[in-house]
Amino acid sequence: MKINSICCLGAGYVGGPTMAMIASKCPHIQVTVADMNAQRVDAWNSDVLPVYEPGLDAVVASARGRNLHFTTEIRAAVAAADLIFVSVGTPTKSYGIGAGRAADLRYVESAARLIAEVSHGHKIIVEKSTIPVKTASAIKAILAANSSSEATFDVLSNPEFLAEGTAVADLENPDRILIGGELTPGGNAAVEALVSIYAQWIPRQRILTTNLWSSELSKLVANAFLAQRISSINSISALCEATGADVDEVASAIGMDSRIGPKFLKASVGFGGSCFQKDILNLVYLCESFGLPHVAEYWRQVVHLNDWQKSRFVEKIVRTLFNTVNNKRIAVLGFAFKKDTNDTRESPAIYVCRDLLREHAHLAIYDPRVSPDAIRNDLAHVGVSPELIATNVEISTNPYAAAAGAHALVTLTEWDEFRTLDLPRIYDLMLKPAFVFDGRAVLSNESLTALGFESFVIGKGQ
Ligand code: NAD
Ligand code: UDX
Repeated sequence: MKINSICCLGAGYVGGPTMAMIASKCPHIQVTVADMNAQRVDAWNSDVLPVYEPGLDAVVASARGRNLHFTTEIRAAVAAADLIFVSVGTPTKSYGIGAGRAADLRYVESAARLIAEVSHGHKIIVEKSTIPVKTASAIKAILAANSSSEATFDVLSNPEFLAEGTAVADLENPDRILIGGELTPGGNAAVEALVSIYAQWIPRQRILTTNLWSSELSKLVANAFLAQRISSINSISALCEATGADVDEVASAIGMDSRIGPKFLKASVGFGGSCFQKDILNLVYLCESFGLPHVAEYWRQVVHLNDWQKSRFVEKIVRTLFNTVNNKRIAVLGFAFKKDTNDTRESPAIYVCRDLLREHAHLAIYDPRVSPDAIRNDLAHVGVSPELIATNVEISTNPYAAAAGAHALVTLTEWDEFRTLDLPRIYDLMLKPAFVFDGRAVLSNESLTALGFESFVIGKGQ
């Protein structure tokens, strides 16, 4: 099975960068990324890409117009392809059965129906989206029931493990590529065809092939384990604050045990992003559906602890500011869910800001990459009224403008530029006492204290 032409449905944070990397590494394959969102497609075809990722501009520039194309002509792109990645959104369902936990698979289903309608001959369909285990069965059933008699399909699972902010490095040099397929001669040939694409730049021993269900499930489990580490260290951050221990020292001490390892032990105001919460809730729902309530409850705690971490941070701010933030200006540094991305999905900043606004604080928010519109939309989305946004939310163009006249400075994203802030200047600009609440431990606690700030850093006992 030789692949000459690839189509990817979904030009989002995964589809765009992943296809750009494949096109850049496989100049002999035509790669077309198709999406109905014309604004997004236009942006992919422009100099200002819709996704901010360090190094992505160069990868796109190396292939766009040669063998990388972005289009809204979805049907034509699917019809022309030998292999189709489905990289559409799979958000948490907000209605009906499984609301708040199950994955909403309507975009996956509509993609499968569209593929069935326009396909002739043989095509390989690859699940790139993160989906519940057994989704490949549903896709196969839809394809079989809606396609013409001469169309045939193999369905593979190939979950994506890139993290935002490091997507290009992760795609260029992944820990592993996972491909699940059916254990039939046709299934094996389809797996081999996909393996040969990745093998253009990734050593074979890092390309793992499994059965379909192991591959689908592994993606949810990987994210659940990563998020669990963050909730574990965040739970310890509260104990550190209560006892005088320092969570970073504890993390270093335990992380040097090679069985534990040092990564993903950074205490924070909570994890965010479009994946962790959604995928754990999806796992919880799967466990409930398969009659495993104890397993479901175990994983649900990871999300509960994360919610508690955000709300206890807000409580700390309000209590420290003499039990009221009413009418007080608070400088908020960082709104993205992590550094080096413009993505704000499920960012802890959204919930911290919402709760401070409920206490009638005035917020001056600065983020180097997130647009003012995105910040306002996110706050409106979690129920902050348009009036409150208009009167109590100011978007600042730099950290110093945000800090001017503020009672408190709050860091919510670990942008590198916050590590080199001119702290004496910030101190002079603020009202006294000048409070700092460092939700990412990016500021030097010793410098803050020496300068006269009243500081609280996540996980640092007094
Ligand atoms: P996204 O919302 O950024 O992009 C999805 C895109 O799919 C949208 O632009 C939407 O318009 C498009 N779309 C929906 N239905 C379509 C259809 N029928 N045809 C063509 N386009 C269609 O989502 P994302 O962050 O790229 O995530 C996509 C999937 O990858 C999700 O399942 C997610 O869980 C998974 N994932 C995301 C990340 C991440 O870091 N964002 C990492 C790994 C896996
Ligand atoms: C995650 C997974 O890492 C990736 O493999 C998967 O494909 C998609 O989901 P992403 O959400 O993009 O990637 O970023 P990640 O680096 O995992 O960070 C997620 C959140 O956890 C961020 O809010 C980050 O600030 C937070 N985090 C991460 C911590 O609070 N502490 C840590 O030690 C690591």
